[in-house]
Amino acid sequence: MSIPRVEVRNGQKILMVDDKPFVLLSGELHNSSSSTTKYMEPIWDNMQSVHLNSLLFPVTWQQVEPVEGEYHFELVDGLIEQAKAHDMKFGILWFGSWKNANCSYAPDWVKTDMERFPRAEVKKGRHFHNIKFHSFRMPYTTLSAFCEETTRCDARAFAALCKHLKEYDTDHTVILIQVENETGLLGAARDNSDIADQKFAEKVPQELIDGMLARKEGLVEDIREALDKCQEGTWKEVFGKAAEEVFMAYYTAKHIEAVAAAGKAEYPIPMYANCWLVQGGQPGDYPSGGPVYRVMEVYQTVAQSLDWLAPDIYIPEFVDTCNKYTKQGNPLFIPEIALHSGATARLIYAIGHHHAMCFAPFGIDDIGQQMDASLGAAVGMDTSDDNIKRVLKKETYARANELVGGLLPILTEKYGTEDLQAVIQENPKEWTMTFGDTEISAFFDMPGLNVGSGACLVCRTAPNEYYMLGYGVMPRFNSLDEEKPFIEYLSIEEGEFVDGEWQLNRLLNGDEEHIRINEPTILKIRTHLFN
Ligand code: DGJ
Repeated sequence: MSIPRVEVRNGQKILMVDDKPFVLLSGELHNSSSSTTKYMEPIWDNMQSVHLNSLLFPVTWQQVEPVEGEYHFELVDGLIEQAKAHDMKFGILWFGSWKNANCSYAPDWVKTDMERFPRAEVKKGRHFHNIKFHSFRMPYTTLSAFCEETTRCDARAFAALCKHLKEYDTDHTVILIQVENETGLLGAARDNSDIADQKFAEKVPQELIDGMLARKEGLVEDIREALDKCQEGTWKEVFGKAAEEVFMAYYTAKHIEAVAAAGKAEYPIPMYANCWLVQGGQPGDYPSGGPVYRVMEVYQTVAQSLDWLAPDIYIPEFVDTCNKYTKQGNPLFIPEIALHSGATARLIYAIGHHHAMCFAPFGIDDIGQQMDASLGAAVGMDTSDDNIKRVLKKETYARANELVGGLLPILTEKYGTEDLQAVIQENPKEWTMTFGDTEISAFFDMPGLNVGSGACLVCRTAPNEYYMLGYGVMPRFNSLDEEKPFIEYLSIEEGEFVDGEWQLNRLLNGDEEHIRINEPTILKIRTHLFN
């Protein structure tokens, strides 16, 4: 069997595990859960009962290399054995130099040697920043992206981990790696250390200008306009107001690239970087230099060992964020999304509409518990979002995963094609799907529907044959064929795939032909167009 890899099918990137498409029906665990196998023991069973096929969790520099040059892989080996025993895969989150614009996962020998491993300076000589909403009042402090020694040591540890995975994980339980976590600098648009000052006064490297011009289609307006005007000069001369953020993105991406490339040289499984999104404000109010939408092209130019860039979605603008993160062939991979009642619909939509690689609510270990709004606010969630006020019911989310999981072999065949579509209640502008002569409209705001946020996925498997996965929806079919303007159902089967076989639960007809779906449900529908 080949090692996990990315393949392009129908123009769409898709993850291949053991030579078969693999979509991560996943969840990201709380940061500390995977720090011991003892703590993890009950979590695996719980996650299996949510019908997840995978998990995402940290493996940290702090625990891998507590003493310089001494590597410890017992924990990761133990986690691999636990995952195998539960028939699950996992993705490693490499918490190295960065974790949420902070360096709390660097080993002691890195943290305490601030000469050898300097911190970024938010102002000259000031190495930390307090952000208003941080509930724990700890300062944000991060290693400088401009220190070659930091990059060298982070890359060395990461390469050792990848080498070990190649030797130990011959069953491919680890399927991908996130390199660092939510990189960037909080508190200033750029590092103000002497070395950063010196680099900021230099000319913009030609490789960056060329790479961004080659990706001009995707550039945000202000950066495109700046590049249209000036293609040579210092950062300020070329990028104007965006200079500091682009500069930080370039050097942060270079660090990530060095780490990822060192790992891939040992074991080239898929790797990506995630980001703390822009939540309003200026660079520095959100981490400046992380792979936010504004600077994706910088990362695509510089960090070519990464297979994609991923958004961590805690803001209410879910649909808009998905649209932004699918530009220029970037596949949708959501390693973190708020664990609230909107997640079921968002899972269905991400897979049906964007043909996503991964959907993973954060803190999945807490599924079924009411979100503490103050904690939500502390991690940057918009607490005015109605979804937060409702609990994500474990049974509902588990059922959705179970149904999607059974359907995946059919869905992944259609990834990258118009035969797989979905709509979501939170995007009222698009509640209609068109499959040739047939239009399927989803009605979400109807009496008797009460899920809060619904979605409807449709996969056409033959002319006039569809699998529909609905949640909180009333679907209606309509003919667009002028010669056959009427449409009727031939059959509506309610059922699911179990071990690859379609199993009928009910044949719907009569009153039940007026389809109304409140819990996640799959229908196999055949229609007939006539005049
Ligand atoms: C985003 C981070 O990437 C996660 O590790 C975690 O800290 C969450 N925020 C908390 O909500």
